Amino acid sequence: MEPIQTVGVLGVGTMGAGIVQLAAQTGHPVVACDRSVEALERAERYVREGLRRFADRGAFTEGEAEEHYERIQWTVDLGEMAPVGAAIEAIVEKVGPKKEAFRALDAIIAPDALLLTNTSSISITDLASATENPGRVCGTHFFTPPPVREAVEVPRGLLTTDETVERAKGLVRAFGKIPIAIQKDVPGFVANRFLMPMLIEASRLLDEGVASKEEIDLLVKKGLGFPIGPFELGDFIGLDVGLDVISYVHEELGDAYYTPPRLLKEMVRAGKLGRKTGEGFYSYGEEA
Ligand SMILES: NC(=O)c1ccc[n+]([C@@H]2O[C@H](COP(=O)([O-])OP(=O)(O)OC[C@H]3O[C@@H](n4cnc5c(N)ncnc54)[C@H](O)[C@@H]3O)[C@@H](O)[C@H]2O)c1
Repeated sequence: MEPIQTVGVLGVGTMGAGIVQLAAQTGHPVVACDRSVEALERAERYVREGLRRFADRGAFTEGEAEEHYERIQWTVDLGEMAPVGAAIEAIVEKVGPKKEAFRALDAIIAPDALLLTNTSSISITDLASATENPGRVCGTHFFTPPPVREAVEVPRGLLTTDETVERAKGLVRAFGKIPIAIQKDVPGFVANRFLMPMLIEASRLLDEGVASKEEIDLLVKKGLGFPIGPFELGDFIGLDVGLDVISYVHEELGDAYYTPPRLLKEMVRAGKLGRKTGEGFYSYGEEA
């Protein structure tokens, strides 16, 4: 099979915008699609700024940054995904909308194109059940921010073919990243089965007044040696996304441990979603 050239990204929020940048700067023509014009405009600014930062650091010249940017086609029209060799879905972390998007993409893209999802937790097998060809469905779970993080989780569904997994891994390598294949379709895969308990515990400890958020973050960084504290990371990910992941894992496993923390629910209800809204556990002003 020929290497994948054109990549489609559906949903250009926090993650999709970063995946668009990554694909473009590794030489792939990109169709970047979102149903929201505001999201597309925000993503265009994000990618321009991201490419400029890479150019400032000497990863490529300013002229090359411009060429990378020119590879991207921005659109609200899903139909423009037709020519892609792989479509990467990065919309909201909810089963219903993702299945609907998969059904639509499956009917639009070529039969040999890959149907990939950036889901953090949802069953690949379940998403694939919305398509006529579940063998070509696979996860490519990028981390935030996608142009920077080095590894990508590649979870497979029960019906994903070996060829699809190999092609998905090949695409991740073509993006300059390390693919890590996950053999079983478990809720939260590996990364979030590790990360979400950290966010759950941190939220509960804060809610119980055991320590301040600053102290917990400091302890995790300076004591345990993690590069980032749980509250800082939660704000990066988006607390709504974190809550969706925890809720899905809770529902799927039926394990009371994953009961969504009260504090997290309250913050999401109050619209304090993290960096993307300017306020989460911390405040970020207008720059966030
Ligand atoms: N935020 C993270 O750190 C992170 C990390 C890894 C994986 N993920 C996963 O990536 C996915 C996206 O997360 P995010 O944080 O980028 O979300 P986000 O809310 O920032 O962005 C979602 C985007 O999808 C668009 N959208 C929603 N429904 C759509 C539809 N039907 N058609 C077209 N566009 C649609 C929205 O307009 C928005 O721009 C989720 O599955 C999430 O679990 C997130």
